[in-house]
Amino acid sequence: MTQETISKQLTLLGYVQSPVEKDVNLSQAILELKKEKNAVILAHYYQEPAIQDVADYLGDSLYLAQQALKVEADIIVFAGVHFMAETAKIINPSKKVLLPDLNAGCSLADSCPPSDFEAFKALHPSAIVITYINCSAEIKALSDIVCTSSNAKEVIESIPKDQEIIFAPDKNLGHFLIKETRRNMILWDGACIVHEAFSFDKVVALAQEHPTAKFIAHPESESPILEIAHYVGSTSGLLQFVQIDSAKSYIVATEVGILHEMQKKCPDKIFIPAPVEDDTCACSECAFMKLNTLEKLYNCLRFEQPEILLAPELIKKAEIPILKMLAIK
Ligand code: 13P
Ligand code: SF4
Repeated sequence: MTQETISKQLTLLGYVQSPVEKDVNLSQAILELKKEKNAVILAHYYQEPAIQDVADYLGDSLYLAQQALKVEADIIVFAGVHFMAETAKIINPSKKVLLPDLNAGCSLADSCPPSDFEAFKALHPSAIVITYINCSAEIKALSDIVCTSSNAKEVIESIPKDQEIIFAPDKNLGHFLIKETRRNMILWDGACIVHEAFSFDKVVALAQEHPTAKFIAHPESESPILEIAHYVGSTSGLLQFVQIDSAKSYIVATEVGILHEMQKKCPDKIFIPAPVEDDTCACSECAFMKLNTLEKLYNCLRFEQPEILLAPELIKKAEIPILKMLAIK
């Protein structure tokens, strides 16, 4: 979703961020409001720890989409980024879906504008379009099937071997999957600024300082990083790996938010965020994810805003490839 569209939607909603009274215990107030309004909070592992701790469901993109499909509550508050809340709305058109900060976009989703993608698709008329869930509803509506980093391999393998495939929007995940599945897919040239920020040289130097630490990485990272990783996997894949693996310490190349749950699940292990190229920024934090705060989550439940609103026609088209994916895994 572009900044312009987000601003328009904000204006339409007349959304005002109200200040919170000083003595409110935000976590407690959120839990009470949630009960009172029959709301459920879905949170991604990249949210700030305090948000993760008040969530009903905490997980990666696939788990959250699966939970969204089963929700019975009247209101879904999606503590994540726009495309995630949009996905929840698409599969729950009659429910109210809220996102604490509508500006919580995604560099990867933004790297695939619908009109450009439509033209790209037209160059390959016989190709099946598999899109990573990190894209706008408009891109999903142009797709045959959606996938996440947890199930991309299964989704690709569900397509007949001789079928031409377009994979979008993440080229890094695409290159990784080409190697994994030996399928020669046509890739869209998009990327995530967070997962591309890791520095190969600094990771190598850090690994030398911690010779017993294993290096683990998310497949949205660039090939040189993935090639030296002991394990490559989705956010929940990484979380599972550190729980079953015997090492005592890990250098982790993904958004740092996941370290909160890793540390909870493995209190005796050491987790070190992988270093980024630019020392002056906290680039392994997704600035979009971190736009959501406990205060905004509280206000969001209080005022039931900002709400995700989508045209019914768009919902109908975008729902098909999402449900196709959810039927696979
Ligand atoms: P997963 O949740 O599939 O690991 O994707 C990571 C991500 O970048 C979400 O925006
Ligand atoms: Fe998008 Fe990357 Fe942030 Fe995930 S981590 S929401 S892919 S910018």
